[in-house]
Amino acid sequence: MFQPSLRVLLTEQQIQTRIRELGAQIEADYPEGPIYLIGILKGACFFLADLARVLHRQARIDFIGVSSYGKGKTSSGEVKLTKDLDVSVEGAHVLVVEDIVDSGVTLTYLMHVLEQRKPRTLKIATLLDKPERRIKPVTVSYVGFQIPDEFVVGYGLDYAEDYRNLRDICVLDPAP
Ligand code: IMP
Ligand code: MG
Repeated sequence: MFQPSLRVLLTEQQIQTRIRELGAQIEADYPEGPIYLIGILKGACFFLADLARVLHRQARIDFIGVSSYGKGKTSSGEVKLTKDLDVSVEGAHVLVVEDIVDSGVTLTYLMHVLEQRKPRTLKIATLLDKPERRIKPVTVSYVGFQIPDEFVVGYGLDYAEDYRNLRDICVLDPAP
């Protein structure tokens, strides 16, 4: 399953160190009380799990599902809601947790959907950001790492559903 064309970009330790920093920043920015962490399925599941556990406060968790990518490496440009929230987030501090912001199409759509649910605050935390690829501008409050325009897998990120369980984040180089 794990092919030799994987090149480590961010190690497990780098990721965990950065998540602790993000957690401290989030702690400092939010008033007391619960935060609703909304993970975007499926890629954000490990980031959400680790981020939630570095927060020293009530962190409620829910997931939302969107699909914008087919089986390839580029977005179809069309976003669909595949799973809605289980709870109402009206009046809540909502932090959307994403694995990577690429074109920005997914988050632009999702923020529009979530704004209609009337949260008290609505911000985004992403582990990775590929700013070079942006088509739609999105305001991201917390960024783990800015990375170059390369396709990455691991720590939740997939290529055609593979590689999500890699502990590091790796660049998937094209087959030789
Ligand atoms: P956007 O709508 O183009 O910003 O796409 C965001 C989504 O595309 C992310 O949530 C990922 O699921 C996926 N994606 C973008 N870049 C990569 C990558 O390098 N590896 C794996 N998935 C990616
Ligand atoms: Mg995703």
